[in-house]
Amino acid sequence: MSGEPAPFKVRPMTPADKPAVLAIAAQMWEGSDYLPGVFDEWLADRNGEFAAVDLDGALVGCGKLTFLTPTDAWLEGLRKDPGVRRKGLGAAVAAHFFSRLAGRGDLTSLRFSTYVNNLASISLNERLGFRRRTVLSSKAWEGSRAELEAVRTRSSVGARSRVETLRDETVVLDYLDRAGCFPASGSLVVEGWRTWPFSRELVAARYIRTGRCRGIMGPRGPRGLAIWVPDTRFPPGRVKLVCLDAEDEEIADCLFDDIFLSLRAVATAPPTGAAAKPFEIQWVIPDVERWKRWCAARGLRSDEQEDDYFVYELPLAELDRWAREGRAT
Ligand SMILES: CC(C)(COP(=O)(O)OP(=O)(O)OC[C@H]1O[C@@H](n2cnc3c(N)ncnc32)[C@H](O)[C@@H]1OP(=O)(O)O)[C@@H](O)C(=O)NCCC(=O)NCCS
Repeated sequence: MSGEPAPFKVRPMTPADKPAVLAIAAQMWEGSDYLPGVFDEWLADRNGEFAAVDLDGALVGCGKLTFLTPTDAWLEGLRKDPGVRRKGLGAAVAAHFFSRLAGRGDLTSLRFSTYVNNLASISLNERLGFRRRTVLSSKAWEGSRAELEAVRTRSSVGARSRVETLRDETVVLDYLDRAGCFPASGSLVVEGWRTWPFSRELVAARYIRTGRCRGIMGPRGPRGLAIWVPDTRFPPGRVKLVCLDAEDEEIADCLFDDIFLSLRAVATAPPTGAAAKPFEIQWVIPDVERWKRWCAARGLRSDEQEDDYFVYELPLAELDRWAREGRAT
């Protein structure tokens, strides 16, 4: 953040910028970027800010500030046109958002997540003062329609171990407390590449009251439960698993079957999107042996290595320093 002022100009995104942003997104990660699926929603976000970045009058990148709660800020959607060699776009976007956030006395967190091998993102943000807070492992099963049809599911689902939507908040929250799902993830509620600070109210409002909690009840309470949500940024067929725990492998298997069966229901619709493997279940887990074992058993794997999912956080004193000194480092 020192030396020559960045030549990048950060300004609010407009609807007219959509083609340019989509053209950049198309060059990311073999065309699998989620930006096309969120552009309109991000544009309409009045709490956060969707920022466009211009260089010599042309849009060359973007970044997004999101409020996950009224006081928990999240950075996402940072992109630079791969054809642009000039450095410093990420620092320019950060400077823009930091100036907006600095001096706010009520902020409780400023975080983002990134992949272990995203060296540009890691280097840029560590230089800005972000510290690695939590390391998790992103596990995913990806499949074609044929692979989805071939997935083994147990006939016991719907019979002996009936999976149902659990709506009793106390029952669910007490079970999650006992299972220790969220403390194991550093008190984060991880939904794909976004992480919310855990609170009972968040889990109740976001998942239980919306019917996203599926479980198997026994005489003394849940024998297991899973919280998962459809990934609305893509055509139907992708699921983000937030947590899953069970008293044994069989119950865990039934809960996984419930997810696979829901994907099969979607798979009867005509295929949408060009992806060869349009179906996906992603679960970001801490270093807990039974969850790793269940992932392996159901074909959810790490892409390159375990411990590949980093959550970074800016100590809020850095923002105070920014407010005083007008720069991050
Ligand atoms: C992330 C991104 C916007 C950064 O652009 P930028 O801010 O202009 O990046 P810079 O070229 O200034 O590089 C930032 C730092 O990363 C380093 N870096 C960049 N690419 C690197 C690589 N492949 N390997 C190692 N270090 C790298 C730079 O040397 C620089 O380090 P420094 O701060 O110590 O000088 C851009 O790389 C991008 O669009 N990446 C693809 C999308 C993405 O990954 N977004 C972030 C998701 S979390």
